[in-house]
Amino acid sequence: MKSLRINGQRLMDRIMALAAISPIEGGGNCRLALTDEDKEGRDLVVTWMKDLGLEISIDVVGNIIGVWNVGSGASVMTGSHIDTVRTGGKYDGNLGVLAGLEVIETLQQAGVTPSRPISVGVFTDEEGARFAPDMLGSLVFVGGLSVEEALDIRAIDGPRLGDELQRIGYAGNTPCPQRPPHAFVELHIEQGPLLEANGVRFGAVTGVQGISWQELTIIGQSNHAGTTPMRLRRDPVVVVAEVAKFLHDLALRFGDNQVCTVGKIDVHPSLINVVAAKATMTLDVRNTDEMLLRKAEEEISSFIADIGKREGVTTSARTLARFEPVQFDQRVIDIIHRHATDLGETVQFMPSGAGHDAQMLARVCPTAMIFTQSKDGLSHNAAEYTSPEDLEDGANILLHTMLTLAETDFS
Ligand code: GLV
Ligand code: MN
Ligand code: MN
Repeated sequence: MKSLRINGQRLMDRIMALAAISPIEGGGNCRLALTDEDKEGRDLVVTWMKDLGLEISIDVVGNIIGVWNVGSGASVMTGSHIDTVRTGGKYDGNLGVLAGLEVIETLQQAGVTPSRPISVGVFTDEEGARFAPDMLGSLVFVGGLSVEEALDIRAIDGPRLGDELQRIGYAGNTPCPQRPPHAFVELHIEQGPLLEANGVRFGAVTGVQGISWQELTIIGQSNHAGTTPMRLRRDPVVVVAEVAKFLHDLALRFGDNQVCTVGKIDVHPSLINVVAAKATMTLDVRNTDEMLLRKAEEEISSFIADIGKREGVTTSARTLARFEPVQFDQRVIDIIHRHATDLGETVQFMPSGAGHDAQMLARVCPTAMIFTQSKDGLSHNAAEYTSPEDLEDGANILLHTMLTLAETDFS
């Protein structure tokens, strides 16, 4: 069993076939959740699941779960997502889903029957780029958000999540929350620069940092750009600029583990010679330390109140996502670390900067993640790249970790 290895070429072929759906310039993908492109990707993955003889279920928020029904008891689960940001790469999420299928095919071909079912989840809207919050499908899967609330969430382009699920044919019947798996492990690219910088090939991921997402709406007074004296203006765009700079400076002041991003700004009416009437901006604020994250949120709120008053605009903030830092299960982390070492790989313990479906599964079962290097630390970028060798060896760590998890008694 120790010598069992996945088929790296087959894994790459599937990654490239999925990436051939909705390609964008530069080699990446645009497959926003529940769009026609997402449907096409889902259909392809379902075809592969059928080829492997998996029992496939679609739940009420469109999570696709494929189960290889061997052994007995709750399954050892892996998986991730196939939705992408608008300028996504080929590997973010896709690797975790396709490596799961590869693990199953490898075991089937070798005639190895694990003592528990093996399942692969394709979770809806992990990115949260079209429907907030992120990790939406896995959050509902574990009971962290009600189905009704999830179905009513509106996309950034308008439609309701429930209606988009119906439209693409992925409004399933399986209820949520679902029965917790025996254990969960997710293979993912690091999406950051640390492994490459350290010359270490893999990460045994210890947890995920806390995430705070808000949308800030600023209402001012629209007026003529040529005739309105500066002292009479109530310009929302000035507040956007001030808030963006405040976030940037706050992150530098807090240091190391604090990151802040303004990734989306919309201005209305967005014309050269009109002082804007309204602006909306997103605030993405993350820290591994919950206390520091709260402090950051408080400072940001009070700055917004002050600057709003000073500029004579009204401001309102809406929470889009708020997840505390997550600690993964030490037993699963250690199993990953041991298998990476046994396979002759270099591996380090590390937290995740990005959000992942595993952080939701961690609420209901022993969970951890495996990271591979990301070239130049690039992700959420069409140039995202991980070498075929790293993908293959990462999937081998996943294979052996899943086999050990099936034999591990966590009670
Ligand atoms: C999800 O990918 C996130 O971390 O934003
Ligand atoms: Mn991802
Ligand atoms: Mn992502």
